[in-house]
Amino acid sequence: MPGLGSAARVWKEIRRDVQAAQERDPAARGVGSSEILAIWPGVHAVLAHRVAHALFEARVPLLPRLIAGLARLLTGIEIHPAARIGRGLFIDHGMGVVIGETAEIGDDVTLYQGVTLGGTGFAVGKRHPTVQDNVTIGSGAKLLGPIVVGHGAKIGANSVVIHDVPPNSTVVGNPGHPVRVDGRRPEGPDADWAHLPDPISDAIKGLASRIGALERALAERGVDPATVPGDEEQPEPLRAARGPNPAGG
Ligand SMILES: CC(C)(COP(=O)(O)OP(=O)(O)OC[C@H]1O[C@@H](n2cnc3c(N)ncnc32)[C@H](O)[C@@H]1OP(=O)(O)O)[C@@H](O)C(=O)NCCC(=O)NCCS
Repeated sequence: MPGLGSAARVWKEIRRDVQAAQERDPAARGVGSSEILAIWPGVHAVLAHRVAHALFEARVPLLPRLIAGLARLLTGIEIHPAARIGRGLFIDHGMGVVIGETAEIGDDVTLYQGVTLGGTGFAVGKRHPTVQDNVTIGSGAKLLGPIVVGHGAKIGANSVVIHDVPPNSTVVGNPGHPVRVDGRRPEGPDADWAHLPDPISDAIKGLASRIGALERALAERGVDPATVPGDEEQPEPLRAARGPNPAGG
């Protein structure tokens, strides 16, 4: 069973977690520690995990999973009791966060709602991400597989990250790619992942400007474009789908 030493360690970690909320949540500025402890779901989830993890490490059966399940019920944040979490983790809002069994999180990490530190399939062993110190992961980001997110990295909201992330970089998109490393844009012909070409939008813009030019040319000749006869042929109506529903299953 955990002794006084581990109780003191857990208490110290809890204080640091509350402090993390005060420092990193603009809505928590000027809010007292007891109010944060009573209300912030991210703090509740981390607190519950500290206890569940200590019991898990002490090989107490059942109870760690029960605590994790109860915490998920109350906060919407799911943290496996085996996950290793450093000091000062702050989960802002929190709903929908999932932290898998073999995930490792360093110190002073910030996660927003909907972040997944998950596996890619049915692999066993180390299969969840390792997140180093001072990383920020935006809402809805999915980090999958045993990747390493280097210290100080920022992951953009809704990114899907399946490769290692360099330290002090910003990664965005699906699949996630670095758009800043040490504050600088990566160079190279294939580096601008924040501004990928959109051929459909380009084609629509091209057609729209051509139609505009044609309408202006008609107007100059005194023709109202609305009176020009169009192609009256109607498209074939869609047939009802037969066979099994392709959306099923
Ligand atoms: C990624 C993030 C942390 C900003 O990091 P940063 O290092 O300061 O990066 P910048 O703001 O300079 O953005 C770098 C580039 O990535 C783009 N970018 C930023 N976030 C992006 C995202 N989520 N998806 C796609 N592109 C994004 C920016 O437009 C910018 O493009 P540019 O090269 O044209 O300038 C921030 O945009 C983000 O997503 N934060 C998450 C916040 C969040 O989840 N809040 C929830 C509160 S409830």
